[in-house]
Amino acid sequence: MATFQGGLPDLTNPVAEAGTGPEVYVETYGCQMNVYDSQAIEGLLERDGFRLGDNEMGADVILLNTCSVRDLAEHKVISRVGEIRHRRTKAGLPQPVIGICGCMAERLGKDLRKGPRRVDLVVGVDSYDTLPGVLREITDAQAKAIPEAMRTQTGHRNDAHYVAPPALYPINNSHLVTIHKGCDYKCTYCIVPYTRGPQSEKAPHTILEEIRGIVEAGGREVTLLGQNVTAYKWRDGLDFAGLVEQVAEVEGLERIRFLTGHPKDMHPHLMDAIGRLDKVCPWLHLPIQSGSDRVLRRMKRLYNSGEYLEMIDYARKVIPDVTFSSDIIVGFPGETETDFQDTLEVIRRVKYDQLFSFKYSERPGVPAARLADDVPLEEKKRRLAELIKVQEDSWTREAAEHIGEVWAVVSEGEARRPAGSCRLRTANNRKVVLHDASLEIGQQVRVRVTGITNTTFAGELLA
Ligand code: 5AD
Ligand code: SF4
Repeated sequence: MATFQGGLPDLTNPVAEAGTGPEVYVETYGCQMNVYDSQAIEGLLERDGFRLGDNEMGADVILLNTCSVRDLAEHKVISRVGEIRHRRTKAGLPQPVIGICGCMAERLGKDLRKGPRRVDLVVGVDSYDTLPGVLREITDAQAKAIPEAMRTQTGHRNDAHYVAPPALYPINNSHLVTIHKGCDYKCTYCIVPYTRGPQSEKAPHTILEEIRGIVEAGGREVTLLGQNVTAYKWRDGLDFAGLVEQVAEVEGLERIRFLTGHPKDMHPHLMDAIGRLDKVCPWLHLPIQSGSDRVLRRMKRLYNSGEYLEMIDYARKVIPDVTFSSDIIVGFPGETETDFQDTLEVIRRVKYDQLFSFKYSERPGVPAARLADDVPLEEKKRRLAELIKVQEDSWTREAAEHIGEVWAVVSEGEARRPAGSCRLRTANNRKVVLHDASLEIGQQVRVRVTGITNTTFAGELLA
């Protein structure tokens, strides 16, 4: 039996029988950390006899696992609460218990219990083990009014790490494994250090045990998750490169991905290890955020554009077939047109496979909130559109060079479109669709690349 930091319950064994308790529907917003946490929430509740639902109309309890990284993400959730209430009323159904979990619970706490869109329950990122108890109380028709203090559970407990049940719903074939939580970097725009607390590592033996469990349940690929996985450091000095070496030794495991790396922590010995270990996929998601040294300094990103580009060059040298993706913020306070052009220049230089770009959104209480949010919204929109265009042009040129190549790919099942096609992925995270093909999930095949639409390649199956 697994031993877990912080005395959290063992969720690794499947539940023997479906429960007969209230039905819970968990809806997830934000990043992969939340996807993993939702898996843990479902595991905790299932183990306690709750039934898991998949829609808002049938559920007795609806939990929204939320994101605070941008203002828009929070607004979406608040209006979703109103939408759920409205739909249930319109259909003549009783109102469900609605709870807010995740980053918004940490950031807004008790405030979410006030006003017309108030919810019944607020449970933050380190308090999910309180959910079964409090939900039993709230859903028990005979129960007396439960104390207000029970309805809001927030705050950080750094020793406690959830281990979600394996194989609940792998994403793109990859089983998520959170290896640390929180963040010790203080990028000036970012709310995460406040909502997720300081960085705290899951023990290496727990991570390895979790991955062995995933392999036993039939999984072949894991994604090691954290806000800054490359900053992983266990007490005995084991760093991320050392951890990855140990994970690569797990028998039966075929592929290892990881998200998200911090450019400052991409030391040559880590890149050497990624290049050397066959199981580690050659795809690096390394958010640059800005290509301007002045902006990077004000963001406290701890690297400059020259160092970033050197790191990319080194990765290209030691990691065969490596590809890159990145996050970028436009319109950070004080960003000038020249700063923005510096960012575009880096995009042209690196030739990213994929970019996730965002308009700067001021978050209350973070250091950048003391700077004037002085780039007008219209200008942020213009820069975002220009950046997307530069990326599209860069990618179109880059992608065309790959037509005719032969790639090893792994099947991820049926593609959404067109009917009868199959979606696959390369180790370096390129998507391929095969028409008129039916392959088993996880099957490895070789394809010849025949075309490209947006970021998805078309291919033909080779014998
Ligand atoms: N405004 C806009 N984008 C942000 N991000 C983080 N904080 C903010 C913010 N205040 C982006 C960063 C990060 C990604 C997850 O979200 O690019 O890498
Ligand atoms: Fe959003 Fe960050 Fe929280 Fe993930 S950790 S849900 S990206 S605020």
